[in-house]
Amino acid sequence: MLSNITRALCIASALGLMAGAATAQDPVKIGLILPMTGPFTSTGKQITAAVHLYMQQHGDTVAGRKVEVILRDDAGNPESTKRLAQDLIVNSQASLLAGFGLTPLALVAAPLATQAKVPEIIMAAGTSIITERSPFIVRTSFTVPQSAKVMAEWAAKNNIKTAVTMVTDYAPGHDAESSFTEPYKAAGGQVLAALRVPLQNPDFAPFLQRAADAKPDALFVFVPSGPGAIVMKQYVERGMDKAGIKMIGTGDLTDDDILPGYGDVAVGIITAHFYATAHPSAANQAYVEAFKKGNPGMRPNFMSVGGYDGMHLIYEALKKTGGKTDGTALVDAMKGMRWESPRGPIQIDPETRDIIQNIYIRKVERVNGELQNVEFATFEAVKDPVKAAEKK
Ligand code: DHB
Repeated sequence: MLSNITRALCIASALGLMAGAATAQDPVKIGLILPMTGPFTSTGKQITAAVHLYMQQHGDTVAGRKVEVILRDDAGNPESTKRLAQDLIVNSQASLLAGFGLTPLALVAAPLATQAKVPEIIMAAGTSIITERSPFIVRTSFTVPQSAKVMAEWAAKNNIKTAVTMVTDYAPGHDAESSFTEPYKAAGGQVLAALRVPLQNPDFAPFLQRAADAKPDALFVFVPSGPGAIVMKQYVERGMDKAGIKMIGTGDLTDDDILPGYGDVAVGIITAHFYATAHPSAANQAYVEAFKKGNPGMRPNFMSVGGYDGMHLIYEALKKTGGKTDGTALVDAMKGMRWESPRGPIQIDPETRDIIQNIYIRKVERVNGELQNVEFATFEAVKDPVKAAEKK
């Protein structure tokens, strides 16, 4: 039986040998790892729909190379992500890995990306630290602190004097809590309680009760894409809307994929985020129309644009390298790239490989009968505030 160390060395040398063994005639293979089953299926569905849309619009050949996407379902389980990433690199000879629906899934692949020198494109996960875990990681999604900090600054200036924070108890939730609390307090706000709810099978009711008892002006919420619907239901069951406790949060709470089912109680919720289906640019109107046409019954949410822009990043990097898939050359080509996304202007920070983007303040409204996040203020070109603070 191989010891763990021997096994790790075997995998490491296989990763080193296999990466880059593909020839220029072979297709460029992108290993797309996403939760296609389990509680985070919405993220997987949104991103795959956007990836397919991008390829439909731009073709499956770039810089003379055919592009092949190999989709794998990790069901949100880090052990599966790791196994699938290894298999994609060693056996399928993927030149890039992409997807990563949750922070623990992105983190577990980072050492493999470094070892094999394979770019890891983060299309979903949002904890600040992710990009620091490998020089081969580039992010087209967002950092949770980008939205949380902007929300704090807006709340403090808009007569929200006291708040309770309620976050999902894992890395991005901890990022949300600190990135909201520090600037909010610095601007004179008071946090009456800091609540953390488990990631798996969350029951928000007891936490909401504690929040209600503290009687804050507002409840600041971070949940990943998906459980927002349960938060809303339990918030109404506790009568918190009627008690006048405002709901604010990062835009994951009013996720455009599930918002239509929230009902009128959601009207008036204010969140900060980088993308809304209702973003009023021409580029976004074309995106929404094409997305809906290809995916009847769905509308694109913030996860989808992480996937769409991730494909743009890969296509443009391949054009710059002339179709070469050397990992270092691809990542170098990605650094500093800027373009207009359906969400607005974006850039890959050449120093951190993280995304720089606008953060919008939005209010839930009914527009032509449909619940939408309607943007009403813009914080331009926001860098990840955690890494920006570390550099000072
Ligand atoms: C993460 C996942 C989400 O679905 C989200 O909305 C924000 C962050 C994450 O795990 O990083």
